[in-house]
Amino acid sequence: MTDRVLIVDFGSQVTQLIARRVRESGVYSEIHPFNKVTAESVAAFGPKAIILSGGPASVTEAHTPRADDAVFAQGVPVLGICYGQQTMCAQLGGRVEAGDHREFGRAYLEVVDDCALFHGVWNKGGREQVWMSHGDRVTQLPDGFRVVGNSEGAPFAAIADDRRHFYGLQFHPEVVHTPHGAQLLRNFTHGVAGCRGDWTMQAFKTQAIDKVRRQVGSGRVICGLSGGVDSSVVAALLHEAIGDQLNCVFVDHGLMRQGEADQVVSVFRDRFNIKLVHRDASDLFLGKLAGQTDPEVKRKIIGATFIDVFEEEARKVGGADFLAQGTLYPDVIESVSFIGGPSVTIKSHHNVGGLPERMNMKLVEPLRELFKDEVRDLGRELGLPDEMVGRHPFPGPGLAIRIPGQEITRDKLEILRKADAIYLEEIRLAGLYDTIWQAFAVLLPVRTVGVMGDSRSYDFACALRAVTSTDGMTADFYPFPHDFLGRVTNRIINEVKGINRVTYDITSKPPGTIEWE
Ligand code: XMP
Repeated sequence: MTDRVLIVDFGSQVTQLIARRVRESGVYSEIHPFNKVTAESVAAFGPKAIILSGGPASVTEAHTPRADDAVFAQGVPVLGICYGQQTMCAQLGGRVEAGDHREFGRAYLEVVDDCALFHGVWNKGGREQVWMSHGDRVTQLPDGFRVVGNSEGAPFAAIADDRRHFYGLQFHPEVVHTPHGAQLLRNFTHGVAGCRGDWTMQAFKTQAIDKVRRQVGSGRVICGLSGGVDSSVVAALLHEAIGDQLNCVFVDHGLMRQGEADQVVSVFRDRFNIKLVHRDASDLFLGKLAGQTDPEVKRKIIGATFIDVFEEEARKVGGADFLAQGTLYPDVIESVSFIGGPSVTIKSHHNVGGLPERMNMKLVEPLRELFKDEVRDLGRELGLPDEMVGRHPFPGPGLAIRIPGQEITRDKLEILRKADAIYLEEIRLAGLYDTIWQAFAVLLPVRTVGVMGDSRSYDFACALRAVTSTDGMTADFYPFPHDFLGRVTNRIINEVKGINRVTYDITSKPPGTIEWE
């Protein structure tokens, strides 16, 4: 079995980054909420090392989170980060107090002693940049610990118990603002804990194929293909695992971008030789959307119609025992919420929820353990084309939510497709595609007056959107140079009949959302 690292989550905003860093160094890791970690769960997981995350609570207050004692009794190395360091010290007999010198953002660590975590990067006497975010601090070490680093606000900013292999860092090694942080984590997992670092995408692929075969047996699987990264990788993986036991259904709602539907068919049917039903249901979808302008109504119509059509096609191919889904790790991590209460629905997302029960199918979710960019690596490993694997996210309801506040018609879809294709082509030409999380054009429900040649024009305005993000939950607008925006605008107005004005959307999320609807 590959070596595994358990990350105990106390609710830090950056806990996922710990898992990312550990996995990037070739070690499989999982995040478990602190209140689900018990002696039994730790033993069952069998970690080679345990990392305690940061978190927003204060150890100095009663009833705040603690790590189960099993964590320290497992006989494996433990690294506490920020809140994790504080609770480790408090639980093992040290003391934590509210500091009068809070540190947020960049800080400097004085390296006062050598330590296994610093191996190869930091030396005694050095002064190193780190990233801090704390008010409380450790003021007395538990027995067995020594201090190896301090900062202005934290006398025990880095500590070590070499005998038990327990370590604590007040700063965050998982963020890029601690320049050597990834190496410190690697020193912990590889150097201290002896993890082998053999968790590669190739190894994952072999294991995942094996797992699918065991789960599915001789059963039949159906997979909804959308052309997006996740469903494409699921389909390619399942095909390699179970061949003709897999049927793919591509419900083409007519709301795809330029060339997208053709690409799905040519890659999966022609190149991979996967059994694929391509159902052109654009008339049906556009018919149901006729006259509708409300975003939620549009989303619900598309979601429900999608499920109906998918079910119809699934029955035509003889049904299935399993439904394959591209669920990713961020969707299954149970995050620790300190706010509590139900969150409001901002937008109804579209998926095939409800279908497994309706059709009495079990789920196959081979990507449940992966982050998005790991899915991309797996896709490359499976031989999917780069332009498919590296593609920006695209919403289930497609272009319907990029024609806001107005009726969706074939003409408008065509105008939008052309503008969007020009915009994306220019982004690729400028070499910016991979630095942007998502970029697209939006056809606005407003006509504006222009002058083209000697004539008056009265056409649609469109908006361009491009954002950077790590997970789509928050986003910043992308700061294109003005000449780039000028070039795209020129091309769109000259080449797309129906648009005579272009604007650039510089709203971040929050308060905006990425899509306009
Ligand atoms: P918002 O607009 O909520 O979008 O900031 C966040 C991310 O989610 C995508 N998105 C969707 N994806 N079905 C999807 O599969 C949907 O209904 C849907 N709505 C938005 C959006 O493109 C962005 O990446």
